[in-house]
Amino acid sequence: MFELAVAPERLKWSSKKWERYRGQDVIPLWIADMDFAVAPPIRSAVAAHVAHGNFGYMSPPRDLAQLLVDDHRRRYDWSIEADWIVWLPGLVLGINLAVRTCCAPDEKVISFSPVYPPFLSAPGLQGRGLVDVPLSPLNGSGTAFEIDFDALERALAAGAGGPATRLLLLCHPHNPIGRLFTRAELDRLAALCERHDLYVCSDEVHCDLILDGRTQHIPFAKLLAERSPALARRSITLHGPGKTYNVAGLGVAWAIVPDPELRARFRASMQKLVPDPSCFGFTALQAALRDGEPWRREMLEQLRRNRDLVSGALDRMGLPHTHPEVSYLTWIDARSVAGKVGNAAQWFEKHGVGLSDGAEFGRPGYLRLNFAAPTGLLSEAMGRMSRALASLE
Ligand SMILES: Cc1ncc(COP(=O)(O)O)c(C=O)c1O
Repeated sequence: MFELAVAPERLKWSSKKWERYRGQDVIPLWIADMDFAVAPPIRSAVAAHVAHGNFGYMSPPRDLAQLLVDDHRRRYDWSIEADWIVWLPGLVLGINLAVRTCCAPDEKVISFSPVYPPFLSAPGLQGRGLVDVPLSPLNGSGTAFEIDFDALERALAAGAGGPATRLLLLCHPHNPIGRLFTRAELDRLAALCERHDLYVCSDEVHCDLILDGRTQHIPFAKLLAERSPALARRSITLHGPGKTYNVAGLGVAWAIVPDPELRARFRASMQKLVPDPSCFGFTALQAALRDGEPWRREMLEQLRRNRDLVSGALDRMGLPHTHPEVSYLTWIDARSVAGKVGNAAQWFEKHGVGLSDGAEFGRPGYLRLNFAAPTGLLSEAMGRMSRALASLE
């Protein structure tokens, strides 16, 4: 049993999540990190590094790339090569680099909203166009979504003659809808990438948080490679330990770029702009890959319980919401509340619960709730939301 249910005193270290509401009685359930103490083997490894007392420039530990290669084979049955790995200090940076690397100025990038905000902002920030192909409601639901392939085909066809649509930004698994795309959906997407010569940047940072603990993640680049090795050479896969092991503050991530020429261009986009990962990030990642698995399994059990607690409470409040298959984010359809109070995120904040505003993800009226918190804190938050809604009646 690990010390999961206890929130470390996070204000002491200026946690971004908690600082937003310093001095206010608001329970922060917004930004995607966990109020759980990090796995003991990771803490010990970082503590040993601190005790050693040298925090200078660090190369990746010699066995790190091989640990990652072995991990990919074991977890996803995907054979990557150590040379394909490009170390990064963060994933959002990787999304922006992928846009710069794969698209010429004015060429276009596809994203599926609602989606983690950088998937919508990166194209504009890098001077490229955004083609948003909104996910469509599954069976008319406001809270289950699928890729709208007809709209995607139409968007790709509409581009003919204008600036080329060059890159698909895929959030796989998807934040905020918490879905794993099915094999059939991924196959269909791969066929479209092939037909339209798209590059793909697949952000897979949530893939080790599949809540049933059994379903195997399918890396999109692996599926592309099975279809055609040439197609996999148009892929960039982003991943890192930030979400799985709750070490987002340590600044370590990676891109897997199988094609040497694309990799050289990706590295060229980084030159003189992108620092190395932090020395503690490397140390933490090494410990996570070697010894993090028991903690990860137990943490997933806690997340499952938390998801169900939140889901039950939201059902009782009459708020439609996702039942995420992956990660610790519930997506809530609060349009009925917004219809009465205006901005639902601000209104719940006034009632003591800090949620992410769906507008940032391309869907005003929706909310995203992070349930990676101690159970007592979550129950209190659910009580506050429920009482706030009762006061509206
Ligand atoms: C899909 C996705 N990518 C990237 C990130 C952030 O990655 P980083 O902090 O390494 O930039 C998040 C954080 O929530 C995320 O959900």
